[in-house]
Amino acid sequence: MVQQQRMSPVDGSTTWTGDYATQRDVTEAIERASRPMAAWQKLDASARTAVCLRFAERLRFHSSAIARTISLETGKPLWESDSEVQAAAAKVDHTIDAMRVRRSVWSDGAVGSESVIRYRPIGLMAVLGPFNLPLHLPGAHIVPALMMGNGVLFKPSEKAPGTGEWIQRAWEEAGLPRNVLQTLQGAAETALAIVGSSAIEGVCFTGSYRVGEAIHRQLAGRPACMLALEMGGNNPLIIHDVRDHQAALHVLIASCFITSGQRCTCARRLIVIDNDSNRRLIRLFADSIQRIRVGMPFDTPAPFMGPLISIEAAKEILDTESHMEEKGAIPLVRCQRLDRTRGLLTPAIWEQNGVPLDDSELFGPLVTVEYVDGFEDAILSANQTRYGLSAGLLSDSRDVFETFVNEVRAGILNWNCPTTGATGRLPFGGIGASGNHRSSGYFAIDYCSDPIASVQSSVLQMPKSVYPGTEAAFN
Ligand code: SIN
Repeated sequence: MVQQQRMSPVDGSTTWTGDYATQRDVTEAIERASRPMAAWQKLDASARTAVCLRFAERLRFHSSAIARTISLETGKPLWESDSEVQAAAAKVDHTIDAMRVRRSVWSDGAVGSESVIRYRPIGLMAVLGPFNLPLHLPGAHIVPALMMGNGVLFKPSEKAPGTGEWIQRAWEEAGLPRNVLQTLQGAAETALAIVGSSAIEGVCFTGSYRVGEAIHRQLAGRPACMLALEMGGNNPLIIHDVRDHQAALHVLIASCFITSGQRCTCARRLIVIDNDSNRRLIRLFADSIQRIRVGMPFDTPAPFMGPLISIEAAKEILDTESHMEEKGAIPLVRCQRLDRTRGLLTPAIWEQNGVPLDDSELFGPLVTVEYVDGFEDAILSANQTRYGLSAGLLSDSRDVFETFVNEVRAGILNWNCPTTGATGRLPFGGIGASGNHRSSGYFAIDYCSDPIASVQSSVLQMPKSVYPGTEAAFN
């Protein structure tokens, strides 16, 4: 078998070498999971929670090394990888809280026949991770899945296998029983083998619509398999009317260009109500982004944006620019490729200029601007997408926000705050082509278990009356 390698988008060094899991490896992993998973399910929830807390402690202990691996594999600035490690560790506390609030055993306390809700794990779940937050986003499924007593087969992104190994290692150091979580490295073929196995009872995926839809098709005819899809977006940010242009600039930069625009929550379309103040704000934005530091993750001083995940990804952004220009869009600031051997791109803004653009999930530092006459037009335009992950509003008016929150179709609707940087204290998920009604984040705990309803009585006794027509049966 040919050994696989992951080359760093930062310096071309080999960050990982190994084999991709085959169909046979997947089958063996499923066999290995069966017994330890049954024992893990039987453990008291507090014992499982203790392992999860130790996992968070191990992440914090190894934080510098893990952050370095993330940066080397993804190109993200080190400060950003550091904050990803902290978010991944904090996920454990959020999940404990979510379990208490949403998944505690509940009883109506009635004497006689009592109504009780308990929760049972799904079984063996597959978690397929993305490259952009390769620690935190898989963790958003793995932590609740394990806490609820499931077993997990985890396939990290093939672009971040080393981060995947860190996840496995931190769980092992935390004392998770062997084979309750197994990491299987690989690309599409491995994912197909995992999802295709009838032993898999739940699939959690974070990534593009194209892949999410393919998984959905693969699972057609298996309604018993739970599927949670977190897919991309073509996210709008409406600029209504704001006095503080510096604060607006901060929201715009964080929304459009964090992680070099490679977050599914990034704003892709600025929809701007046409007036002098907003035109000034866009000019300020266009001017300021040319001074954003773009560089390598370990540079000092630290860059805000690192290289894209691959040279191909950078090429795709440059091709999109050419395509937009052919259609008649106008560059306010073009992407510049800073290094031919790396995907290092500067941020770009294009004015749409009345040109209809593709409704696609772009993953790079490119945002479009469209001027509209009023707020109603802004809402119409915001909703002109089949996606619905995040949307933002910059406005000094609460009334305008109320309309925005009622009328814009997205799972995340932020006001004067970035569209990115989802908080673990809230659900995370989109509507339309961005998801399948399985919100993750704080609500991920829900799809990691089934509620079991019981009507129960410790004493078997005759009811006061019996069904009409059955009286004679009791004489
Ligand atoms: C993502 O899922 O790509 C990003 C989540 C976020 O930070 O908003």
